[in-house]
Amino acid sequence: MPKDFLTLADWSAEGLLALLDRARELKQLRQQSKGHQTLPGRVLAMFFEKPSLRTHVTFEAGMTQLGGHAILLRPEQVGIGTRESPQDVANNLSCWVDGIVARTFSHALVEELARVARIPVINGLTDLLHPCQVMADLQTIAEKCALKDAVIAYLGDGNNMANSLILGAAVLGLELRLATPASHRPALRVRKQADELAAASGAKISWSEDPVEAVRGAGFIYTDTWASMGQEDERELRKKIFQAYQLNAKLLAQSDDAYAMHCLPAHRGEEITDEVLDGDRSLVLVQAENRLHAQKAVLERLLGAPR
Ligand code: CP
Ligand code: NVA
Repeated sequence: MPKDFLTLADWSAEGLLALLDRARELKQLRQQSKGHQTLPGRVLAMFFEKPSLRTHVTFEAGMTQLGGHAILLRPEQVGIGTRESPQDVANNLSCWVDGIVARTFSHALVEELARVARIPVINGLTDLLHPCQVMADLQTIAEKCALKDAVIAYLGDGNNMANSLILGAAVLGLELRLATPASHRPALRVRKQADELAAASGAKISWSEDPVEAVRGAGFIYTDTWASMGQEDERELRKKIFQAYQLNAKLLAQSDDAYAMHCLPAHRGEEITDEVLDGDRSLVLVQAENRLHAQKAVLERLLGAPR
């Protein structure tokens, strides 16, 4: 088992499916108000360079529910790279806590923290990847149909969400159809890695520029913001580039009565309309809820091993 949770590509299909099984159990335990304090006394440091609602709250609440504790660290308090080096931060945190969640701009920084730290490091989103979100998304899809039967379409920007969905599909052998402008395809390094994984898993991952082609026959249609955190200055330009990829009622009607998915936060009226986001085919709040359960499964797995 990998020490860290940086990218789904580091995990086997069996490893990811075991996490999803445990996430399902943890959801049931919470729904039945049954205690599940499997990480008593464990402490998680949460380092966030970017804003967060879901990731911050679900990791902190998750640690409390598991009997542990979480500490939020803001970049101005820590000063990674200015006040002290990533190596020194990782070495110091390793003396005091049992795991680190890091949300950073640079993916290389999370990799560096993980390389040095003697404790597990969990990727809470980087410019490249958002694996924790995809675990919650897979749990959400699995509540509706067997994962192997799911046909997932992703529309819009080839960003960290697209990259992580690709790797999740590639490891687990799923069908994923991406529709993005040619200028905003997912990262080449991710596509190459996914091709290698798909050769072994049988995943069917396709790309086109045509959103209608992607959603026809799809059971799940996923979209994300057109301007990710750090790209706010490009928002107006991006609205023009991605307009044809908006997930609206007309596009949803081209599918097989698909469910609508979004990691949130949404820019209502841009990548998704209110009608779809709030409609009866929307799974967005289930996805958000499942962040809690999926991440608790990851925390148990990584922080629960003997000290
Ligand atoms: N989906 C997600 O990661 O939300 P936050 O940015 O609020 O954490
Ligand atoms: N692509 C988005 C995801 C937010 C959860 C971003 O990086 O801002």
